[in-house]
This record gives sequence, structure tokens and C-alpha cells, in this order.
Amino acid sequence: MTAELTIAIPKGRLERDTIELFAAAGLRLDGQRDSRRLACWDESAEVRFLFVKPLDVPVYVEHGTADCGVVGNDVLFESEADLIQPLSLEIGVCQIAVAALVVMPGNAHTMLRVATKYPRIASRYFGERGQPVEIIELAGSVELAPALGLADCIVDLVETGRTLRENGLRVTEVIAQSAAQLVVNRASYQLKATAIAKLISSLKGALRSTQT
Ligand code: PRP
Repeated sequence: MTAELTIAIPKGRLERDTIELFAAAGLRLDGQRDSRRLACWDESAEVRFLFVKPLDVPVYVEHGTADCGVVGNDVLFESEADLIQPLSLEIGVCQIAVAALVVMPGNAHTMLRVATKYPRIASRYFGERGQPVEIIELAGSVELAPALGLADCIVDLVETGRTLRENGLRVTEVIAQSAAQLVVNRASYQLKATAIAKLISSLKGALRSTQT
């Protein structure tokens, strides 16, 4: 089978809402989602979905292994991939924020230890403020780091705020708003212009119908 389009879907936090949005746009998975099955087709067999780690979505799309992908701004800000971003999908809305146990020291000479999954976002943010930081890169569960003395603060996503509350943290600064974006490979955008325009139009229709 040859797919008209291959679309990279992020596993985890955005996965369910993404599958629902694509279904509302007329692209339904050809069966139940099985978390071990990493490539699926839609019912019409025109679109192949690849289920990959969120941080890998820009890699698949930039290399053209996938024509399109769905990815949060958090990952895009962290990535240096050169991608077209034609549509914000209004799912996965959250903030990228600094959080700490207590008020952060404002002293510019203090070396802050920052635990995060987002080393580039954190370095850029504190660098622009002239705040020296030591970045402690973790793969997840970063909210544990301040209470355990590993870091003074964290840079992470905040959606409901529940993970922060459960770990005795609070937002001290909001770095940026984040939402899921449709991203497209530059060559695919030209070579598969008709299929991609149809996909964007269907997704816009699905987004409009969820607003009414
Ligand atoms: C994300 C994020 C926070 C949490 C925020 O983690 O890194 O930990 O969700 O959500 P909340 O504000 O609704 O509590 P994710 O679930 O992706 O897992 P991870 O910590 O393993 O990265």
C-alpha cells in the first residue's frame, strides 16, 4: 500500500485528542488503537499514521519520513527543525512555565539550578534575562527535583496545574503559551500540495464544528 500522506502523531499527552480531531476531520483509524502498533492506516487507506515520541515528531517531518505531524509548541521551541506550520489545532493548550517551591532568588549573581526536559527553552529564557543557570536535563517527572534538592526550580508544561500542586510547587513565571500545531515537511508542502490542502481544510472544518 502507498499512502497519499504519512502523518506523525505524538504518543502520550496529545495522542487521544489528536486521534479524535483527525476522526472528526474524516480520518479514522482502521481499528482500535493498540499502543504496540506504531504504524496504522486510516479507514480509506489514504493516510498512514506513525505513532512516535513527541520530541521525534519534528525529526520525522523534517526528514520527510512523515509529510506532516502534530506537535506542541513546547517541542517546536525546543527543536531546531525547519518546518512549515500552517495550522494551530487548539488542542493540548498549556503553558510553558518556571515553577519553584518558594519565591525564586532574584539575585542575578546566583547560579540557579533548573531541572527540565527543555534545555534550550530554559537556557534561552534565563540567558535573555542575564540569569546564570545550571541546566539539569531530565527525561520526565521533573516536578520531583526541587523538593529533593536536585534543582531550585523547574521549566515544564503546566496544563491543569495538578502535578505542580501535588508536588508542592507553584508557577513563578510563564515563559510561553503552547498548543498543538500541524507541521508539514517543506518538500511535501509543494509536491503533495493538493492532499495537504485537503487535510488542512478538513481539520479546519473539524475545529469549527467543535466550536459550535
Ligand atoms: C506533562 C508535564 C507535566 C504535566 C503537567 O508531563 O511535563 O509533568 O504533564 O500537566 P498538569 O498541569 O495537568 O498536571 P507528562 O504527562 O507528559 O509526563 P512526563 O512528566 O513523564 O513528561
